[in-house]
Amino acid sequence: MSLEGKKVVLAYSGGLDTSVCLKWFLEQGAEPYALYLDLGQGEPSGDVEKKALGIGAAGAFVRDAKEEFVSEYLAPAIKANTLYGGKYPLFTALGRPLIAKKLVEAAREVGATHIAHGSTGKGNDQVRFDVATASIAPDLTVVAPVRDWNMNRPEEIEYAEKHGLPFSSDVTKESPYSIDANLFGRSIEAGPLEDPYHEPTPDVYKLTAEPEDAPNEPEYVEIGFAEGVPTSLDGKEMPLLELIVRLGEVAGAHGVGRIDMIEDRLVGIKSREIYEAPAAIALIKAHQELESMTLAKDVLRFKSSVEQRYAELTYDGLWFTPLKSALDAFITETQKTVTGTVRLKIYKGSAIAVGRTAPKALYNKDLATYDANSTFDESAAAGFISLWGLPARQWAGVNGGFEDAGTTRKD
Ligand code: ARG
Repeated sequence: MSLEGKKVVLAYSGGLDTSVCLKWFLEQGAEPYALYLDLGQGEPSGDVEKKALGIGAAGAFVRDAKEEFVSEYLAPAIKANTLYGGKYPLFTALGRPLIAKKLVEAAREVGATHIAHGSTGKGNDQVRFDVATASIAPDLTVVAPVRDWNMNRPEEIEYAEKHGLPFSSDVTKESPYSIDANLFGRSIEAGPLEDPYHEPTPDVYKLTAEPEDAPNEPEYVEIGFAEGVPTSLDGKEMPLLELIVRLGEVAGAHGVGRIDMIEDRLVGIKSREIYEAPAAIALIKAHQELESMTLAKDVLRFKSSVEQRYAELTYDGLWFTPLKSALDAFITETQKTVTGTVRLKIYKGSAIAVGRTAPKALYNKDLATYDANSTFDESAAAGFISLWGLPARQWAGVNGGFEDAGTTRKD
């Protein structure tokens, strides 16, 4: 595919990989534009705009997408309690479709026919960028130079040196890890972590304290929700973005939100992943707790299968699809009564819900109490159980009971 004369918008992080991509596009005779998106990953090293233009970009955009990330991606994920493999709160996977959307917006502004990203050919991120772009703007072509050129790290450094590309000395200091971060969490892979028996050393983590070094006193946080979305922290109303940042600091200081897992990538590889996502883990825990107070039993049970599907499609790069929209409609409907407050006790790496209150709680103390004044009609229980057990009694009468065989009936 010739890129001669083509306008390309590249997702630019300011790091070595995407700087090399930028230069490579220039070598191909393309007209590359750089887009740096702030998703709360922390400051880029230096002035990215200047850096991109210095390398030769035809234009550079620096955009803050944190609000949109929170309202359109993280809020739905919280409502859906999304945990891939029951563990990973999907913050990286949630950021990719938004980056694709912003690349397309920038491509429209400059009249580009191509967009590009720096993902490798072994991960999930390439799939997410490519498929999200196909869903949003099927007319655009996606280029992934890193996937195509097969340069290893030392070769990239050599290329950067040869072409006089600016890169921070940290790159050569050789951090063995591959890191991705945004305001909802941080993922760490590669290097010594590729040995699944190797315990991550403390230098792996940045957002969470070692639980054994965390404060010896527990801390309580009260998280208020309105229709499934967190709206207050310790009684104070605040925008979700601010709530996530503040809660992340408190929970992280107590070592909450560390995840160490073997994960099934979409491309078929099992990989060892370390995550730290203090706010995500605390919020999902609190949200689940409030749902157990406010949702009907059958809705809760059914929703858990929807949640699993939602997590999988998010992971698999299918964010902009009709199935995702349909599941959103179901989830939003379930959240109408998910309003209330959950009190979490956070201590040495754990976050435990110790209190919950909701105006539309289905929990009814008068029914549940073991005190004599309970409104539950115990006399109705015997008749209910007789009919509930009728099929079991019928089956045993016809086929013989399980008595002699223990739990497995012998024929
Ligand atoms: N395994 C996670 C995922 O697929 C995290 C990927 C992190 N990406 C990265 N480029 N290091 O969502």
